Amino acid sequence: MNGNDAERLDVDEVLAELTLEEKATLISGVGFWNTAPIERLGVPSITLSDGPHGVRRSPQGDQIGIGESYPATCFPPAAALGSSWDPELAETVGRALGQEANALDVQVLLGPGINIKRSPLCGRNFEYFSEDPLVSGEMGAALIRGVQSQGVGTSLKHFAANNQETDRLRVSADVDERTLREIYLAGFERAVKDAAPSTVMCSYNRINGVYASEDRWLLTDVLRDEWGYDGLVVSDWGAVNELPNGVRAGLDLEMPGTAGVGPDAVVAAVRNGSLEEAALDAAARAVLTLVARHAAGIRPADAGEPALGSERAAEHHALARMVAARCVVLLKNEGGILPLKRDASIAVIGEFARTPRYQGAGSSQIVPTELDNALGELQRLSTGTVTFAAGYDLDQAADDAAHGNLLAEAVAAASAADVAVLFIGLPAAAESEGFDRTNIDLPAEQIQLLHAVADANQNLVVVLSNGSVVRVSDWDARAHAILEGWLLGQAGGGAIADILFGVANPSGRLAETIPLRIEDNPSYLNFPGAFGHVSYGEGVFVGYRWYDARKLQVSYPFGHGLSYSQFGYSDLVAEFHADGATPTISVSFTITNTGSVAGREVAQLYVQAPSRDLERPERELRAFRSLALEPGESQTVTLTLGARDLAYFHPEYKEWTVESGTVLLHVGASSRDLRLQASVDVSVQQPVHPLDHDSTLAEWLAHPRGSRVLGGMLQSGGDSSLADPDTVAVIGSMPLKRIGRFPGVGITSEVLDRMLQQVNA
Ligand code: BGC
Repeated sequence: MNGNDAERLDVDEVLAELTLEEKATLISGVGFWNTAPIERLGVPSITLSDGPHGVRRSPQGDQIGIGESYPATCFPPAAALGSSWDPELAETVGRALGQEANALDVQVLLGPGINIKRSPLCGRNFEYFSEDPLVSGEMGAALIRGVQSQGVGTSLKHFAANNQETDRLRVSADVDERTLREIYLAGFERAVKDAAPSTVMCSYNRINGVYASEDRWLLTDVLRDEWGYDGLVVSDWGAVNELPNGVRAGLDLEMPGTAGVGPDAVVAAVRNGSLEEAALDAAARAVLTLVARHAAGIRPADAGEPALGSERAAEHHALARMVAARCVVLLKNEGGILPLKRDASIAVIGEFARTPRYQGAGSSQIVPTELDNALGELQRLSTGTVTFAAGYDLDQAADDAAHGNLLAEAVAAASAADVAVLFIGLPAAAESEGFDRTNIDLPAEQIQLLHAVADANQNLVVVLSNGSVVRVSDWDARAHAILEGWLLGQAGGGAIADILFGVANPSGRLAETIPLRIEDNPSYLNFPGAFGHVSYGEGVFVGYRWYDARKLQVSYPFGHGLSYSQFGYSDLVAEFHADGATPTISVSFTITNTGSVAGREVAQLYVQAPSRDLERPERELRAFRSLALEPGESQTVTLTLGARDLAYFHPEYKEWTVESGTVLLHVGASSRDLRLQASVDVSVQQPVHPLDHDSTLAEWLAHPRGSRVLGGMLQSGGDSSLADPDTVAVIGSMPLKRIGRFPGVGITSEVLDRMLQQVNA
């Protein structure tokens, strides 16, 4: 059966016809990549495939092995794409991915992955966007919109708190609710609400002891009831512990198939009454709805092998090059050494220039349609001389003598050129899905090479290839310019050449801090935990929130990235508007390209909002805008903040809370390059919470009704000195119940009960 028949699939009708066994069959996959068909009722099977930065469609249909897939465009992985800070760009990539998924007969693309980069050590950071939930959520939402605009589904993953690879199928992320809400769930919430992904993939790990796949609070209370999600929840591949428990919690689809194990357990659980059939119906309905929604894309069986086609492949290769150039972050550029003149004599050093590292390993690894390398692209663009020396051996097979030769060749090449461009980075074996790193250092032989090349030629430009942050502080001073190239996809080599020669102007910004050393990272002492638990003890102080609060120096701060142009910031105006309980702040300012070439600036708005009782980050990114400006051009940017942008998640009352007070607004080019500042006084109705037997004297006095009731009680014979500020300073933290027992105070338990009734009435 093909998609056209399935378009007419009537979900209610089919659901009513399904037997118990068929429903159970439907909610578990077939093979690695397919949903189960129900031939009798005309329900076809749809194909899900990785994702996220390219389509990994296996010809056999059931291979988890990599290298077996049809060629597809390898776009820059999320670590790079996130550095563009440009949702429009991510949406463009999403559209291209959707077209390729259609061409390769994939109905649901397994991405984007938007987990927070809690530690630079996480082996899978190359697949994630940022240490900040706003950047992650915005970029993820945009990618979803792009893919889904082509009729292809997405899978927002890995929900949730999957921030390490160590023991990833079992480890419990022990994390308090405020931290979950403000940091680890916030990006998912944004992407779910703004972009409605057709599926959400629950993660392998446990959260506070409960498997994500069995976590009713996560999958039902939060995702569906609070956020209004009405799509399907799929398990990560092998994340189901016990399928009936999953279904009870709100899981809809087990992947991959378990050869009947999952469905049999579900049938037994319904029969023995431990699983309500209504829960199974809900899951089966979600699968049928997904199939009905995406079945139109199923390729007819007689249509031959799926393929991109050479025209589309060429078009998308060019797109991948443009996108990759937008992702490169220019970390430093002393003396304006970049861009290079086309006729310069350049020594290109480093095997990565010839053998690029362009994507990460694991489930996202795809077979590219073609592969550029920077050396070849530099040679094509240069009108001068380009020489090459490998400098190091990626297989690390070189013995001492061979190593010495590589070093000597590199030094000779560097000495003979105007400028040395050194390509270094992490070898593929250093980072991957499945394991975490233990340090953030570059290989020692590459650092040795860097020093030798810098001794030979002062005009040193370093190009980095790495999926996740590497330490630069031990060699940074030796380089005049550093390009953070991340992993740039199949056309990254061309993009690097474009940036080096100024064909493209760098506009990437760090979506994660580069610390001086790994020991400075907030999760350092807790990551990756032991004995099945990892404590998120740093709370909300993740990434720059921590480095700023602790006033720690960093190598390069969150949001940083240079351009070949300069940008001026001016005319900040901030206005507070209150409409009942929903405050908004509108912020506008002007950005001017004061340089001599066209370029892009990413304007960032950081907010410091008040809180009486809770530690809050110094500043939090609450809005950003990427904009293109011609030389001399100015644009006015207007950003609007809502209540959520000012709020914290109250750990006790479990609600988003905005406090009245002064809000500081900082606009700038990075988290530590704040150019404009304004403040607004926010006044909102404060929620009134009930008092109880443990409420302190200070809490009574701060409570609008409590202070009146207590005041009345004190006037009518109690000890009126209790409300005296000097007294409150000393005993304000004592529960009124206990003060009431002191001699002469006269708040007996009966009196306190009466007072509580009055207050909480
Ligand atoms: C990964 C997912 C991926 C799935 C299917 C899992 O191991 O965690 O991100 O989509 O495999 O390949």
